[in-house]
Amino acid sequence: MNGDLESIVLTEEQIEQKVKEAAAWLDARFAGKYPLAISVLKGSVMFFCDLVRAMQTPVQIDFMTVSSYGSGSVSTGVPKIVMDLAASVEGRDVILVEDIVDSGNTLVRMRDLILGRGAKSFTVVALMDKPSRRVVDVKADYACYEIGDEFIVGYGLDYAQKYRTLPYIGILKREIYEK
Ligand code: IMP
Ligand code: MG
Repeated sequence: MNGDLESIVLTEEQIEQKVKEAAAWLDARFAGKYPLAISVLKGSVMFFCDLVRAMQTPVQIDFMTVSSYGSGSVSTGVPKIVMDLAASVEGRDVILVEDIVDSGNTLVRMRDLILGRGAKSFTVVALMDKPSRRVVDVKADYACYEIGDEFIVGYGLDYAQKYRTLPYIGILKREIYEK
C-alpha cells in the first residue's frame, strides 16, 4: 500500500467485481440501445475504461473535463468545463460516468447541461458516493460504493493531481492534506 494512505477502501479485485456489477446493471437497462457514455475527466477515466469494456452493449464514448477543485481537498463550488464534448447529445440516451459524487454540484451542472442540450435520457453511474456531504439534492442512478466523510484517492481519484494511477482506492492520511 502507498505510504500516504491510512487504509485501503477497495482492492483491485473488489473494484473489478464492482465494475462487473455496474456493467451488468447498465446492460440490463440499455439492451438493444446505443447509448452515449461520457467520462467526466480526469477522475473517472480508469473506471470508465473498465466499465465500457465490461459491458456487452455497444456504446459510443466521449469525454468532458470538468474541474471543481483548486488543488486542494475542498470543492470550490462552481464546476468549470475545461474541455467540452465532441459529440452531440441531442436525442441520445446518455450515460454519465463519474468518479465520485460529493457535494453534488458537478452532477447538477452536468445534468442541466446535458438535458438542456436535448438528451433523450440521462443516467448517472458513479464509482463512489459520499451521501453525507451532499449540498444539493441529487443522486446517482447507480453508485458502486458508499463512503463516509473521508478523502479517498486512487483508481482515477486524486489529491493535487497525485495518486490517480494507484490501482486500488484508499483513504489519504489527514496529515497529507491538512498540513
Ligand atoms: P462535487 O461536485 O462536490 O460532487 O465533487 C465532484 C468532484 O470532486 C469529483 O468528481 C472528484 O473529482 C472530487 N472529489 C470529491 N471527493 C473526493 C475525494 O474524496 N477524493 C478525490 N476527489 C474527490
Ligand atoms: Mg479531482
